[in-house]
Amino acid sequence: MSLKLGKLIYTGKAKDVYETENPDRVIVKFRDDITAGDGEKKDILQLKGYYNSLISSKLFEVLEAAGIKTQYIGLLEPGYMLAHKLEMISLEVITRNIAAGSLLRRFPFEERQVFEKPIIQMDYKSDEYKDPMLNDDIAMALGLITAEELNDLREITLKINKTLKDFLETKGIILPDFKIEFGYDCEKNIVLGDEISPDTCRYWDIETWDVLDKDLFRQGDSGVMDAYKKVASMVLDDEDLKKWGLNEI
Ligand code: TMP
Ligand code: ASP
Repeated sequence: MSLKLGKLIYTGKAKDVYETENPDRVIVKFRDDITAGDGEKKDILQLKGYYNSLISSKLFEVLEAAGIKTQYIGLLEPGYMLAHKLEMISLEVITRNIAAGSLLRRFPFEERQVFEKPIIQMDYKSDEYKDPMLNDDIAMALGLITAEELNDLREITLKINKTLKDFLETKGIILPDFKIEFGYDCEKNIVLGDEISPDTCRYWDIETWDVLDKDLFRQGDSGVMDAYKKVASMVLDDEDLKKWGLNEI
């Protein structure tokens, strides 16, 4: 696998997607840009893309090992992921195990209330419309997805939640909530894409309950990169470091 970037085909707020010589494969570049509030707050954090790509790769590998189809093929080098090309669905699929974030601003839940049954929320991915929350009928009327696909998505998402939650717990991390995105591969299968990183999840230290994710940036606190680096060091083991030619994190 070599790092030869073709044409830039998509640029988002934190990642770029490049063509490769194989029309069904792309290279995803994890950038150092960080944004919040639908892009209103912005910064560049050195090495954020590097650490996010390592964390994301590890979590995609954990999911693949559990039998979940993902876009991930391999990390070419830190920051650059080789992936199956997907036609993305404009949905942000959010799973919540513990009440936090916007849920507390919108509904009368207790802070840190644990949900016996995980909550799956779907938002319309659109900066223009500020990612509004959807219901099934709106998602279908917008032509984003069919009723059958929605059922499949929920089932896959619950499996992803259980797999990630159990794995992260063994690494000393609580997973209160996270956002994932799906797309269609060239055979029209629904496949997990995008990234699973501290930009897109809440991670809390199991011992101290310290926040180890993008909430630090959203709240304007310092130590964002220290937290991301800590997540990478907690999630990756010696084997992973050897694989990427790293001695330590
Ligand atoms: P929220 O509590 O702000 O709605 O966030 C729920 C989860 O979704 C949290 O883990 C962070 C993630 N998320 C994104 O990945 N992108 C976004 O644009 C937002 C608002 C949240
Ligand atoms: N992803 C959103 C943005 O980039 C907001 C967020 O994650 O808080 O602006």
